[in-house]
Amino acid sequence: MSKLEGEVYYPSKEVVARANVKDYDSLYERSIKDREGFWAEEAEKLEWFKKWDKVLDDSQKPFYKWFVGGKFNIVHNAIDRHLKTWRRNKLALIWEGEPGDLRTFSYHALNREVSSFARILHSMGVRKGDTVTIYMPQIPELAFAMLACAKIGAVHSVVYGGFSVEALAERIADARSRVVVTADGGFRRGKITDLKKTVDEAIKRSPTVESCIVVRRTGHEVYMESGRDFWYHDLQQLPIACPDGQECKTEVMDAEDPLFILYTSGTTGKPKGQVHTHGGYAVYTSTTHRYVFDIKEEDRWWCAADPGWITGHSYIVYGPLINGATVMMYEGAPNYPYPNRWWKMIEKYGITILYTSPTAIRGLMRFGDDWPKRYDLSSLRLLGSVGEPINPEAWRWYYEVIGQKRCPIMDTWWQTETGGFMITPLPITPLKPGSATKPFFGNEVAVVDDEGNEVLVGEEGKLVIKNPWPGMARTIYGDPDRYVQTYWKDYEKQGWYKTGDSARIDKDGYVWIIGRIDDVIKVSGYRLGTAEIESALVSHPAVAEAAAIGLPHELKGNAIHAYVILKQGFTPSPRLEQELKDHVASEVGPIARPEDIQFVESLPKTRSGKIMRRVLKAKALGKDVGDLSTLED
Ligand code: WTA
Repeated sequence: MSKLEGEVYYPSKEVVARANVKDYDSLYERSIKDREGFWAEEAEKLEWFKKWDKVLDDSQKPFYKWFVGGKFNIVHNAIDRHLKTWRRNKLALIWEGEPGDLRTFSYHALNREVSSFARILHSMGVRKGDTVTIYMPQIPELAFAMLACAKIGAVHSVVYGGFSVEALAERIADARSRVVVTADGGFRRGKITDLKKTVDEAIKRSPTVESCIVVRRTGHEVYMESGRDFWYHDLQQLPIACPDGQECKTEVMDAEDPLFILYTSGTTGKPKGQVHTHGGYAVYTSTTHRYVFDIKEEDRWWCAADPGWITGHSYIVYGPLINGATVMMYEGAPNYPYPNRWWKMIEKYGITILYTSPTAIRGLMRFGDDWPKRYDLSSLRLLGSVGEPINPEAWRWYYEVIGQKRCPIMDTWWQTETGGFMITPLPITPLKPGSATKPFFGNEVAVVDDEGNEVLVGEEGKLVIKNPWPGMARTIYGDPDRYVQTYWKDYEKQGWYKTGDSARIDKDGYVWIIGRIDDVIKVSGYRLGTAEIESALVSHPAVAEAAAIGLPHELKGNAIHAYVILKQGFTPSPRLEQELKDHVASEVGPIARPEDIQFVESLPKTRSGKIMRRVLKAKALGKDVGDLSTLED
């Protein structure tokens, strides 16, 4: 291996010896030279009801289609096909609740639960192509509900359980869901999160909803509207059957049929429903999971993300189950009741791979080394990170204290839009703390200026992806124009995908992600749009205008800072500041609560009236405010 620049960690002989891929360069080259051939070979590893006619259809760019003509169902691959093998009795899911309760499911049991849920959805009139909104705590039924939708060909739209009324209502409305699946609540830091109450409020604002299935988790009393709300455990007792009897059949889908919608925050108020499909998404998530995390039959895989986030969709539910892995899932907070919680679970269940976010790592690091050191973490063989750039200090702690210098860290860069890992190391890749290293197979990336010229080595520019890949979102639900405008317009001539991130590439070809360049703020790895926060603020009677920006925060990566112009008759006060923070938390979600609110007389705007957030940001950071030629005043 040639000498690499900077702080580099080389994989040990043991890691290389057991790695699924031993030579990145040659397979990468092959995947670029013959992209379709590479993906066809990976797709062959899954079971198709009917093979595709064409791997990639690029006749209507940028609306690419993959595995066209193929008949497929992701659930057939994530569950059904395993039942024909010894994996039937393998553990599919180990789940621990925050209070310490434990539930485990073999693939056989997973099939039973998913089929039962599918029958219930079917009995409520859910059919192929319908959209079901799922708003749940991190309990097994969340995964069952997702898989049940996919099994019968319905489209799921999972709304992260940390979002509040307005965010939920908006997503239900956009997806036009008639059925909502929720729970009475969940446990978080010893408290009950009152999900049902949020759903009740949201349904008041959502005329499309006809019925609501409620899973009992906490047992606390909740309002149940007669004729609309049904307990899941009651429905399970009813002798309902699918048209084809008790054994609920997995629907035969076109490879390009939608599997789910997942909303991401965007620059304007309305969230964007990213649409992912059965075929390409299945191929992409399982392939990336298998290569990057080197999945072996005996692994116990723990992706400690929320299933309501793309990371959970791709790497708790679909990718790992397609690969027949044993998946760990945990309901609650990492430090509840003590900061040993995660380390204790790793020891208890013999977890071999841990995949989490820099925010979680920083949060646990702050409690010191003694907590993890009391546990036997020797089962771990690989670690992973996702959601934001990992600062080298947190990287080193993760590597040294958790991985005990034995476990390479897979710093995976990707997005809701990409479906799966785009830039990522493999276990054999020499690592540089803070760099997501190199593109995954089949992908070509570049860092460019506004015209699309590659910037110089080491310089900051805009990150683009030069090719289509099977896991890409196919469109924005109900708004194909916005899909084109948001991702493909800037580099239309070249046909490149704009990521919205800035990055630099070093002399060894390693990619370093810097952060978002659009109006997206990453708080603790969660993606929020400035517009969502601003419209929540403006919905308060005291607020005339608002602007939100993200500023660096030691634990959260970024924290929200808001600037507010009050309406006449209102005066700034600490009480009002508190009230506004609470208001945002209850409209959007606790994650969106501003760290700080400043009352101002005016906001910097362009002549066309757009708020110049970069000016606010530069001023707050004491930096040069840059080009002000478009500033109105
Ligand atoms: C950021 C999360 C640096 C990035 C899977 C991207 C990262 C946004 C990394 C997408 C990483 C994700 N290093 N930054 N390893 N992974 N990001 O849609 O800014 O919630 O554009 O998907 O997260 O966020 P999203």
